[in-house]
Amino acid sequence: MTAVMERSLGARRDAALAAAVEQGPLRAGFLPAGPGLDRYHTDWYGTADVTAPVLRPSDTEAVRAALLLCREHGIRLVVQGGMTGLVRACLPQSGEVILSSERLQGVEIDARQSTALVGAGVTLAALDAAARSHGLMFPVDMGSRGSATLGGMIATNAGGNRVLRYGMTRASVLGLEAVLPDGTILSNLSPLFKNNTGYDLKQLLVGSEGTLGIVTRALVQLVPVPQARRVALVSARTLADAMAFLVHARATLGPMLSGFEIMWRDYTDVALALPAASPVKGFAFDALTVLLEVTGASEDAVTEALETCVGDHLERHPDTDAIVAQSEAQADTLWTLRDLSGEAATAFAPFAGFDVSLPLDEMEGWVAEARGGLAAAGFDRVQFYGHLGDGNLHVVVALGDKARKDAAEEIVYGALAGRRGSVSAEHGIGMSKRRWLPLSRTPEELSVMRRLKSAFDPDGILNNNRLFNKE
Ligand code: LAC
Ligand code: ZN
Repeated sequence: MTAVMERSLGARRDAALAAAVEQGPLRAGFLPAGPGLDRYHTDWYGTADVTAPVLRPSDTEAVRAALLLCREHGIRLVVQGGMTGLVRACLPQSGEVILSSERLQGVEIDARQSTALVGAGVTLAALDAAARSHGLMFPVDMGSRGSATLGGMIATNAGGNRVLRYGMTRASVLGLEAVLPDGTILSNLSPLFKNNTGYDLKQLLVGSEGTLGIVTRALVQLVPVPQARRVALVSARTLADAMAFLVHARATLGPMLSGFEIMWRDYTDVALALPAASPVKGFAFDALTVLLEVTGASEDAVTEALETCVGDHLERHPDTDAIVAQSEAQADTLWTLRDLSGEAATAFAPFAGFDVSLPLDEMEGWVAEARGGLAAAGFDRVQFYGHLGDGNLHVVVALGDKARKDAAEEIVYGALAGRRGSVSAEHGIGMSKRRWLPLSRTPEELSVMRRLKSAFDPDGILNNNRLFNKE
């Protein structure tokens, strides 16, 4: 399609949309395409090539109206939450209209049941603050908490920092309300912990990356805020030592282990230099740094458990160092070092970010091969870090030139071959990783996924070309 044709199509789409929106529930939140809409056209990697109008429905009926309207006019939609995703799934593509969940608000806590009924546009930080006023918290946590929305977290089955204790977002969704591309409202806002009544449709939507329906509300599980927590940084010389420490921590701390993160020196060097980082005094950074978090019923219990576990590691490796946070503020400072991953990646722009999952037995081999391959290809600025406790590692590669993205991908994913790994542990596929999806899924699995997509969205109007390659 020529640029002129595209522009005139876009103009016709915008005129049809503006006229249709004029009467009805979508009028209040509608933002016609034009200047001032940067935040709907920007993600971690840059800005969209097109400018799209934005629909901002404020309830489920209005989401349904948006889908019916787009279906009637043959308009495609892309769904947006907090724009913190890392796989380019949310920027509008040519011909698409944006549907932002930001006006789908509301949090109702049921403290006795330990649940919350939450609008899709509520941020993780807002949900967590509401829960904390009842002594509860949302089990999932991650660095993007201030912007990430619950709807987006459900659509992507977000992971984050406490997966080894509470599971991914999927584990905390009890009930869901969503609108399908044909306007069907699937509503099962059930607070039931157990409900074995046929196909679990909500779990099909969790992690579907907005390709099957638009989440409007969810009934989520909350958990008690632990009475006490202790956070430590512990150094390690080799990945094998850090993994031995993980196995020991799991065995001795059991459910008290709530975080086991790893950072290579190339990551900590960049993160510590960022303006938002605080200096970590009294700790000697080595080749690897483990961030360990222990939570439990009392200060004495967590302190003793953590100090014994860390002490065992130091005894085995007297040449390593450890620091235990002495206050909540200091614990937050230590976590900030890990939470600054987004900013650290931006410091390498243009960059390619990776999110692989591996069995522990394969991890050293993969790190060595990926690192060696990247260096040999001239990628000399990289950051390795991740959620070692979940078998999930991240790599950020400074590309220098955007055109080198494929080369970096071939090295990093090539090293996964034969190692039973996944090309995405938690970030999803979006647009960025479509080409690589067949490395982690069989042709039969992909075929069933496509059949589900056509059953839910026969006209292909919703988050099209995300997850799957164009046919
Ligand atoms: C993290 C993001 C990149 O773990 O998933 O920091
Ligand atoms: Zn992560």
